[in-house]
Amino acid sequence: MQRFGDQRDWFGEKRFGMFVHWGLYALNAWHEQDQWRRRIPRADYILLIDQFNPVNFDPDAWLDVAEAAGMEYICLTTKHHDGFCLWDTAQTDYNIMNTPYGKDVLRMLADACHRRNFPLCLYYSVVDWHHPNYPNQGRSHELPAPEAGDEPDFDRYRDFLVEQVRELCTNYGPIHGFWWDMNVTGVVDPSINNLIRELQPAVVINNRGFDDGDFGTPERDMTTDESRMFQQRTEACQSVGRESWGYRENEDYYSDAHLIRSIDRALARGGNYLLNVGPKPDGTLPDESVAILGRIGDWYNSVKEAFGDAQSASHKTDNTDVLLTERGDTLYVHLFREPVMSRVLLNPMDRLPARATLLNNGAALPVRNDPLPTLCMDREGKLSDAKKDYVRVTGLPVNDMAGAVMIIKLEYEG
Ligand code: GLC
Repeated sequence: MQRFGDQRDWFGEKRFGMFVHWGLYALNAWHEQDQWRRRIPRADYILLIDQFNPVNFDPDAWLDVAEAAGMEYICLTTKHHDGFCLWDTAQTDYNIMNTPYGKDVLRMLADACHRRNFPLCLYYSVVDWHHPNYPNQGRSHELPAPEAGDEPDFDRYRDFLVEQVRELCTNYGPIHGFWWDMNVTGVVDPSINNLIRELQPAVVINNRGFDDGDFGTPERDMTTDESRMFQQRTEACQSVGRESWGYRENEDYYSDAHLIRSIDRALARGGNYLLNVGPKPDGTLPDESVAILGRIGDWYNSVKEAFGDAQSASHKTDNTDVLLTERGDTLYVHLFREPVMSRVLLNPMDRLPARATLLNNGAALPVRNDPLPTLCMDREGKLSDAKKDYVRVTGLPVNDMAGAVMIIKLEYEG
């Protein structure tokens, strides 16, 4: 990833983060956009505020799970599309202080993050299904029309939003990221990100707000950028389950192999990765999500050195079944697709490394560059004198480790 040359450079070193979607919708246990996707009248939806009482919320418990998975930062939905605020905001009563719980969960999380030196990023939805001034008019992710009593007026909504941004960037200590979502108004207004940067110089800002920000946000592996190295700064995001980002009872969870491949692909292409969990209404993380993160951590922690400040280097080989990262004289080969054989060929590289190690288990792997029967002739059966003594790592435990993303470390001398 290109460096910023300022306090934002934390983002190029800490590459794997935890995304958390949490709010009133956890109570309905279906989807974070419940109000919209099931057309629940606002008057009914807002009654959830009287039930939100996450008595078992313990920010350290979330951070323990994140850290055990190898994650190094966290991003919390401070306000999702429903407009409910998870912090003690003076701009609306529709906030956590007016639930039976009555405690500022953002403050609690921020304190825990600062104590542990764990970067905290804030998600904020521009679309708002509660605020009377947000101009709901049936565009994507908007209510079909304003509700009775609303006074659509984007300028007044903007004032509200700016005051909320100011609170978030002033009252909670150092903030490391601002994650806008759903600016369906299409309004461009760089002064808003400028304000954030003034208040919080280490903040990285995504591209879903009022200007392009610092990085792109491909979601759930849907991306048109198929290059082997991201062309712009990127943070891919994904939830552990297919249907929802918020807590969903009976969620359809992804396989470990799918998630691990997705993570490896994004990180090896030079991006960051946010993996999302949706806490339950009581504040705890679903057991299935914790188990998934635990297994992902078993993989990630064993191969972590291939990421961090290692740079994307896939241009060094023509083999499109692998991605490469490098740091100094060390090259990491990522088998992000299910390998079909026990070797990997790094054509056209021909210089043998001093050592090849399978990072996942520390095993030494044989590495050769002797001629191969299928490469010594051209299609017409003529002996080829082209130089084809490519680096070939052999002995991969493709059967024993089926489903794992193997990463091979090649150490060169000099
Ligand atoms: C999707 C969802 C939204 C969620 C976001 C996270 O856009 O619709 O609810 O917050 O992904 O990236």
